[in-house]
Amino acid sequence: MARQVITVGFCSSGVPMGCAMGLAPRRSSGSFRRVVNPRALGGQSQSLAGNPGQVHVPVMAEEVVRTLNVGPQGGVFVDGTVGSGGHARIILERSCPSGQLIGIDKDPEALARAKQNLSCFKERVVLQRGNYADLRQILNEAGFLEVKGILLDLGASYEQLTSATRGFSFRGCGPLDMRFDPDDPITAHQIVNFWSENELRDLFRSKAQEPFAGRIARAIVRARPIQTTSQLAELVSRAVPPRSSRIHPATRVFQALRMEVNQELSNIARGLEAATRCLEPGGRLCVITYHSLEDKLVKSMMRDKASLPSPFRVITRKPMTPSAEEVKRNPSARSAKLRVLERNPESDAWIRGH
Ligand SMILES: C[S@@+](CC[C@H](N)C(=O)[O-])C[C@H]1O[C@@H](n2cnc3c(N)ncnc32)[C@H](O)[C@@H]1O
Repeated sequence: MARQVITVGFCSSGVPMGCAMGLAPRRSSGSFRRVVNPRALGGQSQSLAGNPGQVHVPVMAEEVVRTLNVGPQGGVFVDGTVGSGGHARIILERSCPSGQLIGIDKDPEALARAKQNLSCFKERVVLQRGNYADLRQILNEAGFLEVKGILLDLGASYEQLTSATRGFSFRGCGPLDMRFDPDDPITAHQIVNFWSENELRDLFRSKAQEPFAGRIARAIVRARPIQTTSQLAELVSRAVPPRSSRIHPATRVFQALRMEVNQELSNIARGLEAATRCLEPGGRLCVITYHSLEDKLVKSMMRDKASLPSPFRVITRKPMTPSAEEVKRNPSARSAKLRVLERNPESDAWIRGH
């Protein structure tokens, strides 16, 4: 996959004055834009209208800056899933004048938006196309060994979910793609059209706990070739008994496909491992998940990392969740869970040997 580094530059005053970012204003301004972040259950919420002017709004932004100890004292931060730069912008604003941010994303379209949205921070920001699983290598190549804080905000962004061409959503008609990185080798189309019935059934069971996995797999194999997201969504709706839950019948199938296409669980495991090796003493890793499979993995990996003898401790014994006020503004944030791991401030020697 192509590596692409974009240095955005430096905001000389350190303050993003007159910076038209197109992102939601800070909460402290008292005027958060209407929140549109349709990412419940595998990133597929029920309201993907895709209205022009709507943008991805960062979830639990205040909790993120607080737990990452972002402040005027600065430091180097990594946003491993920078998207359009929502969290990144807030981190850069709060760490003025000297805080730096390395923003990583697999999606070149997301990086282009981030570049535009973060341009006023100039060389305080470096944007890098890549997989957060390769965090250590990416940081080393950018000239950093250890950083103060790392954020992983998992899943897909509003812009990805509502794009007609990306194929993430069962709402609307798009190609069966679902790749975060358009250069990745496997698309949802290949899985849907070429995997065996048993392989499909196992995928829907293991990645989405789909109760009708067998029926859906059989229906897919019989209906091939399947070309579009709406064809697949209709087929799944017909294959399962009439709606018994509030979620769209295709929600779990789309979740499973997206996770497989993007190898999401293995990236999370690799990314967490890499992140723990890049934290400076006292540095923190903050992970936001949106469904139980992701959260289980993050929880168990953080617990393992913090088991003695270890230079890490889990800050969040129970995950933090969005406030009632945030969920009211942004119902799709309701499934978010935030977990935080800290590297012991006195742990200097341990990590350097690894
Ligand atoms: C939920 S969005 C992040 C939104 C961002 N926090 C914001 O506030 O604008 C998740 C982003 O992670 C990216 N992504 C998913 N898996 C990735 C991976 N393994 N490596 C790098 N980026 C990834 C997606 O392309 C997407 O842009």
